Amino acid sequence: MQEIRDLVRAAAEKARQETSEEPEPKFTGTVEFPVDCAVGRGLEGAIATDTKIGYVNGTKGWLVYRGYEIFDLAQFSTFEETSYLLLYGKLPTSSELAAFDKKLKEYRNVPASVIQVLKEMPIKDTHPMSALRTAVSFLGNLDGTADDTSVEAEREVSIKLIALFPALAGAVARLRKGQEPVQPKGDHTLAQTLLYTMTGKEPDELNARLMDINLILHADHGMNASTFTTMVCNSSLSDMYGSVVAGIASLKGPLHGGANEQVLYTLEEIGSEGNVEPWYEKARAEKRKIMGMGHRVYKAYDPRARILGPLAAALCEDHPEVAEIYKIAVKLEKIVTDQLGAEKKIFPNVDYYSGIVYRAMGIETAMFTPIFAVSRVSGWTARALEYLETNRIFRPRAIYTGPVAAEYVPIEKR
Ligand SMILES: CC(C)(COP(=O)(O)OP(=O)(O)OC[C@H]1O[C@@H](n2cnc3c(N)ncnc32)[C@H](O)[C@@H]1OP(=O)(O)O)[C@@H](O)C(=O)NCCC(=O)NCCS
Repeated sequence: MQEIRDLVRAAAEKARQETSEEPEPKFTGTVEFPVDCAVGRGLEGAIATDTKIGYVNGTKGWLVYRGYEIFDLAQFSTFEETSYLLLYGKLPTSSELAAFDKKLKEYRNVPASVIQVLKEMPIKDTHPMSALRTAVSFLGNLDGTADDTSVEAEREVSIKLIALFPALAGAVARLRKGQEPVQPKGDHTLAQTLLYTMTGKEPDELNARLMDINLILHADHGMNASTFTTMVCNSSLSDMYGSVVAGIASLKGPLHGGANEQVLYTLEEIGSEGNVEPWYEKARAEKRKIMGMGHRVYKAYDPRARILGPLAAALCEDHPEVAEIYKIAVKLEKIVTDQLGAEKKIFPNVDYYSGIVYRAMGIETAMFTPIFAVSRVSGWTARALEYLETNRIFRPRAIYTGPVAAEYVPIEKR
């Protein structure tokens, strides 16, 4: 397989050549009620807060964490370093990273009682995201510091969650298959821990790096639904475990993180390159959304898909089992972008090619979204913490369109 860094560098170069600038947003100051504003359904266009954590430039198709381009982080960083960057606002020095890493290793083992809870549920028939959601909720019950809502205490809980998620997802993956969970071991990174605890096998260097890149790419992404959900929950001064549980529930949906597994089901449903066109025509006639395509913010090619597409292509060289699925994906992409790209600005998003990469790594489709959660927990917690520093409860309003003077009719007269 071609050198991963070369592939990411080439993706960055292509992005640079194909992008256009986004106008700067203008802030109008404080809001007095009643307001006259243009906020679309689904809060489209609404500004929830200001942030220094990350920037999604939808016109340019550009993603930045704390000022650093995703293309640079994917080439040179690690998920541990990226998580530190998101949480603390700067790249760590060697000693800061070593101390952070030491903590991650201290906190990474899943308590036996959490494994027991997972075993109590009908885990083979439970979506892994639902299993993860319950496990994190239970973890909160085990942590005596959970109700301390100071920034410092919540930061520590955030580190615990980032540390625990890989082995938790790993335990869910194994229990689903009727296998006993394995605990993290040795000097494994978070990416290696995820792979090891899912498979029970020592991950090779290529798979470990691919997983690390995937975790970097999914770590943060503006006010997406699950991040906003986490922040809304935390803004009532609830607790970080509960807020992350809310984030997991939101990420599960097929319009959000759940799209990555839906993409694979779609490609399997299409079945062959020859069937792409008729499938697409039928899907359009039925007004079906093409999973892994389109985005509320990106009106250009998602930079994460720019990286994952070429990685999927390169993996096909050594993984003939994904080559057909990849060819179907490429053909569908071409049809969708030819037909909807210019008019509706529909391009592949992060979920379009990530599943093919995971499939080549031998990962079960139902585990794709939990892997997303393993990564995104760093963005959820970083943003919830940043907001907590100057917290004000989130509380938008709705425009009431119902009646106002309905006469109450006693039940026997209705
Ligand atoms: C991501 C997504 C939820 C954004 O939703 P949104 O901002 O509310 O966008 P809308 O649903 O209003 O779409 C705007 C237009 O583009 C079309 N469109 C958007 N995504 C589309 C898709 N994946 N396939 C086909 N058409 C799509 C819509 O039908 C709509 O067309 P219309 O104006 O004729 O009604 C949406 O693009 C989608 O459902 N994508 C598939 C799921 C997915 O990949 N999610 C992961 C996102 S990272």
